[in-house]
Amino acid sequence: MNAAAQSKSICLCVTGGIASYKAAHLTSRLTQAGIQVHVAMTPAATDFVGASTFLALSGNPVHSSVGATTEAPYGAHIHLATHCDVLAVVPATANFLAKAAHGLADCIASATYSAFDGDVFLAPAMNSSMWSNPATQRNLQQLADDGCQILAPEEGWLSCRQQGTGRLQSISDILSTLLHCCNP
Ligand SMILES: Cc1cc2nc3c(=O)[nH]c(=O)nc-3n(C[C@H](O)[C@H](O)[C@H](O)COP(=O)(O)O)c2cc1C
Repeated sequence: MNAAAQSKSICLCVTGGIASYKAAHLTSRLTQAGIQVHVAMTPAATDFVGASTFLALSGNPVHSSVGATTEAPYGAHIHLATHCDVLAVVPATANFLAKAAHGLADCIASATYSAFDGDVFLAPAMNSSMWSNPATQRNLQQLADDGCQILAPEEGWLSCRQQGTGRLQSISDILSTLLHCCNP
């Protein structure tokens, strides 16, 4: 375990795509590398994977709303944005990209994004038609212009039984990008 990496923390926002189960593996790999992982899940994401999975794998509370708690009296989004060094959205839905590109902050993921000042990594994953939709591409360009690093999806098998572009970038590639950011 790298001592420098131990001091870094990542806010991992999981949004509601079919690839959200892969974020559990990413959480485990980051934790094994000594990174503190703080998971935020949109309500849609909790339809795909239970919060208990991320709680167990990260060892940290999982946030699924912006509601204030004893630990986060100013709201979970402010707590996460203030305490984490890096923000990663894996997977990032078309819906999340649209909201983030337009400054909406109506869920834990978009609110944390809007309150966060550090390095942001977005890993979109979606059906190939959603990916090539002009609005999605416009939103991605806006987010890149705003300083986000886009971890582009791959071509391959999609859950809608098609081959195409939109498959989440491999977890090993995402992991290596995030670890490099935490251990430059
Ligand atoms: C089975 C299923 C799979 C889905 N997969 C994706 C996906 O991979 N990418 C995506 O952008 N939306 C996907 N959606 C649609 C999102 O769940 C939907 O847009 C939702 O509102 C996203 O909410 P969120 O961005 O707040 O998490 C899927 C929906 C269903 C029912």
